[in-house]
Amino acid sequence: MTSSRRSFIRKVVTTAPALAGAPWLLSRGNQVPSVMRRNKSFSANDNIQLAIIGAGGMGMEDAKIASMIPGVKVVAACDLYAGRLERAMKVYGKEIFTTMDYREILDRRDVDAVIIATPDHWHKQISVDALMAGKAAYCEKPMVHDITEGPEVIKAQKKSGTTFQVGSQGMSSLGNEKAKELYEAGAIGQLIYAEGFWARNSPTGAWQYPIPDDASEETVDWDTYISNTTKRKFDPLRFFRWRNYRDYGTGVSGDLFVHLFSSLHYIVSSMGPTKIMATGGLRYWKDGREVPDVLLGMFDYPETRQHPAFNLSLRVNFVDGTSGSTFLKLVGSEGAMDVKWREVVLYKNEATDPLDAFAKSKKKESDKAVLIRKKMVPLENKVYQAEDDYWGAHYDHFNNFFTGVRNKAMVTEDAVFGYRAAAPALLCNDSYFNNEIKYWDPKKMKLES
Ligand SMILES: NC(=O)c1ccc[n+]([C@@H]2O[C@H](COP(=O)([O-])OP(=O)(O)OC[C@H]3O[C@@H](n4cnc5c(N)ncnc54)[C@H](O)[C@@H]3O)[C@@H](O)[C@H]2O)c1
Repeated sequence: MTSSRRSFIRKVVTTAPALAGAPWLLSRGNQVPSVMRRNKSFSANDNIQLAIIGAGGMGMEDAKIASMIPGVKVVAACDLYAGRLERAMKVYGKEIFTTMDYREILDRRDVDAVIIATPDHWHKQISVDALMAGKAAYCEKPMVHDITEGPEVIKAQKKSGTTFQVGSQGMSSLGNEKAKELYEAGAIGQLIYAEGFWARNSPTGAWQYPIPDDASEETVDWDTYISNTTKRKFDPLRFFRWRNYRDYGTGVSGDLFVHLFSSLHYIVSSMGPTKIMATGGLRYWKDGREVPDVLLGMFDYPETRQHPAFNLSLRVNFVDGTSGSTFLKLVGSEGAMDVKWREVVLYKNEATDPLDAFAKSKKKESDKAVLIRKKMVPLENKVYQAEDDYWGAHYDHFNNFFTGVRNKAMVTEDAVFGYRAAAPALLCNDSYFNNEIKYWDPKKMKLES
């Protein structure tokens, strides 16, 4: 064992006293899942009046989950398409305030917090304006559309002193928490490599969303939509399937890699990679889109106080004939972990404590003394599963946000964390489109030449 490896393992073991006894070292082939629980009892100190900015698919889903938290009430909605405002009124009542101008939401004294779930090219400006107007803000991932935009949001969060959470909800899941706990307790030994995969195989999965029959310049405020980007004639595809176009979306890496970065950074306490390379192509969904449907990213993570140097590879495939899967895997010198939001599977390849020097030296002696035919040793694995009535990562992430708002406490994914998760995803696009390797200083959050 090298000294750096030993010191990483020792460090993580000593920082996780709750896991003393390391139960995964005691049994082999244990298939009975351990149940992961979330305590649901908390009190609603104050009522929080919430507004949705961008009341499309995710904005409405966010609002639904947020409203499950006692004391939280939707009082307003903003969207650039009339049909979405009508829908918001159907769900939350005719009396809610509706507008196509988000600044009217920010001017309202009865709004304490906003959900920002517009396409990516509006995230930065609305977040900054919301924070500076004194509103707490939950902004969907990726935090920004372009690598240059992060510092402005970080500055607004600091200056305003208001709560800001980025919406990579998996971060707050029981699965991520368990993975972090196991990683810090040394369950996989020294981290060597990680990989993540997001695969889909359907038109909707590949962003071919339906266009409403009444989509027109009468029902859509197109001028506002494009007011911060390239001027073009009204195009319903660019409005309703915005993910396919670079002016508004951030491709598969901004949409999906970013979730994997958030989870990974949370689990191993990382600030991010230093070297970013991406390749891929538009293989199948040739519907006029400007972004690839297959993307492969490779990333070098430097050694830090929290983790050793390791490599990461990420893939998105929207043409997956095996019908799709998603995972994040962390591979270490003593085992591996598959991490999902509701489940963690820990694979161990050694039944003895890797730190037990006595057992190791005894094994060496016995190997020399007797020639015994080696056996196929099954991987030891342990499954951790959320209990059946777990309300899920999305609920946990909103609960974390509103607890931050109520108690003026830290949230799990503030602007600095959100920018560090978004940056390597955005740099994948820059690497892919410019055919370059990108170098990034994750600590200073600056591009390197
Ligand atoms: N966390 C997750 O798992 C998750 C899942 C899906 C989407 N998202 C994120 O949520 C955001 C929205 O995605 P979606 O799938 O809901 O898209 P969507 O097209 O369904 O909804 C976006 C809505 O924003 C509105 N809009 C556009 N510009 C606006 C502006 N300037 N002001 C007010 N409203 C505006 C549109 O009219 C539309 O109704 C994206 O950033 C996306 O990355 C996150």
